[in-house]
Amino acid sequence: MKKLLTTLFVLSLAVPFVNAVEKENINVSYAGQKTVNRNMNGQLWLDTDGNHINAHGGNIIKYKGTYYWYGENRPYRGGTTEAGISVYSSKDLLSWKNEGVALSVSKEAGHDIEKGCIMERPKVLYNKKTKKFVMLFHLELKGRGYEAARVAFAQSDSPVGPFTFIRSTRINAGKWPFNMSDSEIEEAKTTDAAKWKDWWTPEWMAETKKGMYLWRDMKGGQMSRDMTLYTDDDGKVYHITSSQENLTLLISELTDDYLDYTGKYVMVAPGGQNEAPCIFKKDNKYWMICSGCTGWAPNEARMFVSDNIWGTWKQLPSPFVGVATDYKNMPANKTFGAQGTYIMQVKDRFIFMADIWNPGHLSQSLHLWLPIDFDANGTPVIKWRKDWMEK
Ligand code: DGJ
Repeated sequence: MKKLLTTLFVLSLAVPFVNAVEKENINVSYAGQKTVNRNMNGQLWLDTDGNHINAHGGNIIKYKGTYYWYGENRPYRGGTTEAGISVYSSKDLLSWKNEGVALSVSKEAGHDIEKGCIMERPKVLYNKKTKKFVMLFHLELKGRGYEAARVAFAQSDSPVGPFTFIRSTRINAGKWPFNMSDSEIEEAKTTDAAKWKDWWTPEWMAETKKGMYLWRDMKGGQMSRDMTLYTDDDGKVYHITSSQENLTLLISELTDDYLDYTGKYVMVAPGGQNEAPCIFKKDNKYWMICSGCTGWAPNEARMFVSDNIWGTWKQLPSPFVGVATDYKNMPANKTFGAQGTYIMQVKDRFIFMADIWNPGHLSQSLHLWLPIDFDANGTPVIKWRKDWMEK
């Protein structure tokens, strides 16, 4: 009897242990592909060749039953783009095949995407009308740091490319946000950015909120850096970007071919310094999660909510809670060490995709995917999970 009880006791301890071991080593194998370990947050994410997935700041689309993951192909050393934009494919979001470079840098000196430029935060959408895959990304011209602040367009007939570069530009040149009144426009025209050497004084902030940088860049077009794309239920696509020296977000409507702007746009959170915008819609509410501006270093996320894509956007506290128990115990107020890049909808779940940047070795930056939970009021909450598929 004593022996039986001891055996039962040992077994009762062993069951959770076995579950834990199974969870740690979930092997996924597919015909014709190598066996890979399931990718866990806090670790390198391997493709089917066993290499860390080099697709950062990007997005994922599903086309004809296959997922395509686009992102920055970063070199091991250095902050410039030496190859271009990567694409990986998967049937299940777990096992990723490297499909190569979807958009390559140009060898031509002086070309907008000459090798050594900076391509960041690519987002690809499939356009049903033109039957093209359209890519927009943040482009900085070679040798000019981050001052060009342009958006670039490319397109392809195939999800894996090759994408053809179309053009790069600043945005909404000569156009005022459609919701600015005549008196607000007149007030913006009284500002003069050249006058302000010292930032962050209350006077400077007041001028910034009036649209000082909007006015400064009115003629040549607005700056466009960190960016995302959002497709609304009616099929309209919006470009959401950090503009005005990263101080203010712009939401701009794209034309039906996704290759230009309709001219309709708004400013969001002037002076709020939001980067890395990620957006999704649930129960008729638009939610936007952004980061602050601290270069490659993590900071506290911000969240906005609106009943309409054009606003009014109300700012809420960060949705992140708790600690990254499997990644340096990074706290929620550092977004677990990460910065968002996209919110992907998988059936009824929304997956927050982010990068844990490794500025010394950008190619090795970790991926962090976390499902978004909702509290009793329907407000997003994001807690740490090692396994992004865990309920
Ligand atoms: C933060 C941005 O979100 C990144 O995409 C990148 O531009 C870095 N800044 C560069 O410091």
